[in-house]
Amino acid sequence: MSDESRPSPAQTPVAAVIPAAGRGVRLGPGAPKALRALNGTPMLIHAVRALAASRHVSLVIVVAPPDGAAEVKSLLDAHALPERTDFLVVPGGDTRQESVRLGLDALPPEYGVVLVHDAARPLVPVDTVDAVIEAVRAGAPAVVPALPLADTVKEVEPAAEAGEPEPVVATPERARLRAVQTPQGFDRATLIRAHETVTDNVTDDASMVEQLGLTVVAVPGHEEAFKVTRPLDLVLAEAVLARRRLNDGF
Ligand code: CTP
Ligand code: MG
Repeated sequence: MSDESRPSPAQTPVAAVIPAAGRGVRLGPGAPKALRALNGTPMLIHAVRALAASRHVSLVIVVAPPDGAAEVKSLLDAHALPERTDFLVVPGGDTRQESVRLGLDALPPEYGVVLVHDAARPLVPVDTVDAVIEAVRAGAPAVVPALPLADTVKEVEPAAEAGEPEPVVATPERARLRAVQTPQGFDRATLIRAHETVTDNVTDDASMVEQLGLTVVAVPGHEEAFKVTRPLDLVLAEAVLARRRLNDGF
């Protein structure tokens, strides 16, 4: 497509890539993390519904565990999802970065805005999703939802062995720090270039865009967009769902 015929970011349809191929080692033994249930529904289904709840999102690409694509397809078929949203399932890779890239490889050309959202953040509110989309549509090449920190953060010299005392090297000013969540939103061409160019190990997609020298902006995140990482997070996630059910009356 030439630049002239490409829709502006304000009009282009939005796709979401949901990396769900991780094992969930920190959660302990069991099924791959994204397939574990929260209140009886797989975490991945919660995450897919959270993104498809945005009326701007017309395609969701789920990156399944490498040997779990068929299982994920049947899960999507078995659960009620919005009619207006299309779904694709692709098998993932050994790292999150590789899984996201495999998802991007399946992205049809008409989608000019891409969200990348961890399946492990099943409870992100739709308002957060829409705030990220709005900032990309307003012209930012990369957008992250972010929250101020409660804890003071220290940089240490990591010890050779876990549990050994670690010398503190620095204390960044807490007021300038943010904890970053997903969905992160991108201009499609920017994210694809970042994934083609940056080979360092990274823990989020926006940092690859930073490495291209482009500006990433942060918009307000939400405490319900936390990542389910350790067993206690499952307790919190189910408590959030119970509170929603009380508030919504279903
Ligand atoms: N992810 C992925 N492919 C991988 C590794 C991770 O798609 N090879 C996904 C996970 O499924 C998750 C998201 O990236 O939705 C964030 O990763 P994380 O929370 O670290 O999940 P896991 O890697 O599954 O957990 P752990 O690191 O504890 O094993
Ligand atoms: Mg991981």
